[in-house]
Amino acid sequence: MYDIIHQLDEKRRLAALGGGQKRIDAHHAKGKLTARERIEILLDDGTFEEWDMFKEHRCVDFGMGDSHIPGDGVVTGYGTINGRMVFVFSQDFTVFGGALSEAHAEKICKIMDHALKVGCPVIGLNDSGGARIQEGVAALGGYADVFQRNVMASGVIPQISMIMGPCAGGAVYSPAMTDFIFMVKDTSYMFVTGPEVVKTVTHEEVTAEQLGGAVTHATKSGVADLAFENDVDALLMARRFFNYLPLNNKDKPPVRKTFDPADRLDFSLDTLVPDNPNKPYDIKELIFKIVDDTDFFELQHDNAMNIVIGFARMEGQTVGIVANQPMVLAGCLDIKSAIKGARFVRFCDAFNIPIITLVDVPGFMPGTAQEYGGIIKHGAKLLFAFAECTVPKVTVITRKAYGGAYDVMSSKHLRGDVNFAWPSAEIAVMGPKGAVEIIFREEKGDPAKVAAREAEYKAKFANPFVAGARGFIDDVIMPNETRKRICRSLAMLRGKDIENPWRKHDNIPL
Ligand code: HXC
Repeated sequence: MYDIIHQLDEKRRLAALGGGQKRIDAHHAKGKLTARERIEILLDDGTFEEWDMFKEHRCVDFGMGDSHIPGDGVVTGYGTINGRMVFVFSQDFTVFGGALSEAHAEKICKIMDHALKVGCPVIGLNDSGGARIQEGVAALGGYADVFQRNVMASGVIPQISMIMGPCAGGAVYSPAMTDFIFMVKDTSYMFVTGPEVVKTVTHEEVTAEQLGGAVTHATKSGVADLAFENDVDALLMARRFFNYLPLNNKDKPPVRKTFDPADRLDFSLDTLVPDNPNKPYDIKELIFKIVDDTDFFELQHDNAMNIVIGFARMEGQTVGIVANQPMVLAGCLDIKSAIKGARFVRFCDAFNIPIITLVDVPGFMPGTAQEYGGIIKHGAKLLFAFAECTVPKVTVITRKAYGGAYDVMSSKHLRGDVNFAWPSAEIAVMGPKGAVEIIFREEKGDPAKVAAREAEYKAKFANPFVAGARGFIDDVIMPNETRKRICRSLAMLRGKDIENPWRKHDNIPL
């Protein structure tokens, strides 16, 4: 018995060493933590239950028959984050560069299957050279097995991908199908083809960082939701982020005790919207002032900044916030912002998270770049997402709600449950100048007449009462009471229960 226990200890020690001390040192020298160190930070102390520590690959080609490392380059299991269950896989770059073999994929699939069975999220810590080259198609099959599970889990359990090293080729498609992607600056990258292939095919010279680094994906492509300075920062923020999410699509979002009163008034909001309708203001000020404890977890804050998305809490309950940002492109909706908003709305809807929409939108962005890029289809994504969504929806129009964008931004017509407007709201087909230029074109040469027409149009539409008279706005509220009115609405909506008609799935314009 003693021998067996000794053997077990020795096997565990070897497995924990991964690719060996030399490789661990090299890994640390790059500023990266090992697979196990990452799990230690991500999970609550002492809660990690590891599976398949002794699993090995079955490859015999290219000398692999003599090269076995227990665990085969990925650490898998489950544990808790602030007491709530989560499944985790963490690729070990010190073992064959974290490359994915058939056995490695089986380990990931096993925890994904269990996560689905018990209804708990999966967090993947990705750090891998991609498909294990020596295994060929067996490794490719392994990837596809993971992809299939990503899709089956989508909308059932939250899936979060942390990119903490290389992630290239087809391997990027597993994270791409998860709900959120967090990257680490300078040490992680994601691309379909690397800089060498890019150079050969398109003759562009680009570094890995420029092509697919964390900053690139958090600012340009929108692939990453957030970019963090280092591993520790990323993992601690992932813990914070996890606290907002329900465990699965049948679970309610978690409620955290707060001492922030639901009826708290904020009189500074009464002067947030400037008198001049063309002057911007920061919509984030409104967000911070209405949510619990000024705590707002913003996502994609450096991508498509004309729309703001993120999680917060109202009376302790998680809510999703979608807001136009007048500071950027005057809050216009364009291709990128519509995609960003739509995906977020769909996540909230899939996971029972109520949505608060803050509206100040002068319309969709005009121009050939947008039209050629397909703003029609991409803009429709946001419209589709709000329209199909069945979670509680509370909307506040702070200023402009013009044209199609008025309809899109969780309007009454798209089953908005409670739609408020501030007294500064302007709900119309377009702004006064544009409207007068079209309907009174013949008076164009007469500045006095144009000014009078604009004043007439403003008097008629630059207020919330025309919409209020039709019941499209449930109430015109003072800005200072916005938090109180939203909290009351959400409390009233807690029992909301509506269903869309049965169908295999919808056909959102992709
Ligand atoms: C097997 C691999 C490997 C791989 C790295 N290694 N990638 N082994 N299969 N895919 C091994 C290396 O041989 C090396 O072993 C160790 O991991 C560390 O790699 P280094 O190259 O020394 O590290 P570094 O300089 O940091 O470079 C990391 C890297 C590079 C950029 C990831 O290794 C690389 O380019 N690897 C190949 C990437 C690739 O083309 N993968 C296939 C992508 S296509 P030793 O023993 O020397 O330490 C793909 C298809 C997926 O993945 C399809 C899904 C549908």
